[in-house]
Amino acid sequence: FPSGFVKLETKHATIRRNMKITVVGAGFYGSTTVQRIAEANYADQVVMVDILEGKPQGLALDMMQARSIEDFDTRIVGSNSYDETANSDICVITAGLPRKPGMSRMDLLEVNAKIVSEVTKSLVSVSPNAILVIVSNPLDEMTALAAKVSGFPPERVMGQAGMLDTARFKHFVAEKAGARPQDVVALTLGSHGETMVPVPSQVTVQGKPLSEIFSAEEIEELVQKTRDGGAEIVGLLKTGSAYYAPSSAAAHMVKAIATDSKEQMPVCASVNGEYGINDVYLGVPALIGAKGVEKIVELDLSADEKEALVQAADAVRAKQTDVMQFV
Ligand code: APR
Repeated sequence: FPSGFVKLETKHATIRRNMKITVVGAGFYGSTTVQRIAEANYADQVVMVDILEGKPQGLALDMMQARSIEDFDTRIVGSNSYDETANSDICVITAGLPRKPGMSRMDLLEVNAKIVSEVTKSLVSVSPNAILVIVSNPLDEMTALAAKVSGFPPERVMGQAGMLDTARFKHFVAEKAGARPQDVVALTLGSHGETMVPVPSQVTVQGKPLSEIFSAEEIEELVQKTRDGGAEIVGLLKTGSAYYAPSSAAAHMVKAIATDSKEQMPVCASVNGEYGINDVYLGVPALIGAKGVEKIVELDLSADEKEALVQAADAVRAKQTDVMQFV
């Protein structure tokens, strides 16, 4: 095991000693992420921070009272201050406004940029060695902003989008094929927005390529449903956005870091040279472990998919430049 890791007699074989995780934002996304992390029972402590007085404390107390039933030992602490978060190993930023029906994620840019900038400053001032996982929207821009504000090396800042978009892609493919989503291999790259790049060439159902199962038209429909996956839920909820699958995705990334799993997953990471793309935070496949983004993986994409990824990079880079006024 790498230094700082010990083998414990639990169902989670590898675990870092005194693992402390902070989640900022005790809204739907944040609190569900805290619950998933705590119930997985590998962290010593999860701190949940929000500006609303009493909300993180109340939710923490409620979750702590589930420990005897769910059988977990992780301590959950709610706070309105960052003192409690000091020396966190991993910090997840979910603070910010969610979409309303008809809004694009980009409509949240200004309001969430101010929040993410402020939250990042507060976090890194007391946890200078943490790994940051950003989930606030618009995702790619907020991740680039947090990276800049934190001054952290790029491997220690990543955004959650690809895990969720890929899970949505798997869901739609599985439903149409009459298969289990667990038997679907899928991938989405690019941005968490208009220029999302679902990658049909990488999709299989029980090992069978998607192109052998569905027509090009049917595949295009699945791709579009995936791109609109979040908006469909926002439209149904009328208020607030999705959080069950999003929190699963974020919690899975946190666990990969905490347990040094080195699992390959699509994340929003700093791309510099890979796929011939430079200077942008973009959704790419990467190996995630104790150091954060340990390696960006370059897959064999079709010419169309590569072109779509370059276009996504160009669109996201322009917006990421705009957002730097909030540093
Ligand atoms: N510091 C800490 N918490 C904050 C701050 C701040 N500066 N500003 C807002 N918050 C908190 C709010 O008080 C609220 O509890 O963030 C929480 C947001 O919760 P919800 O409104 O329930 O939104 P949620 O569904 O959790 O989404 C959060 O994730 O998916 C994205 O687009 C979504 O950007 C949004 C974020």
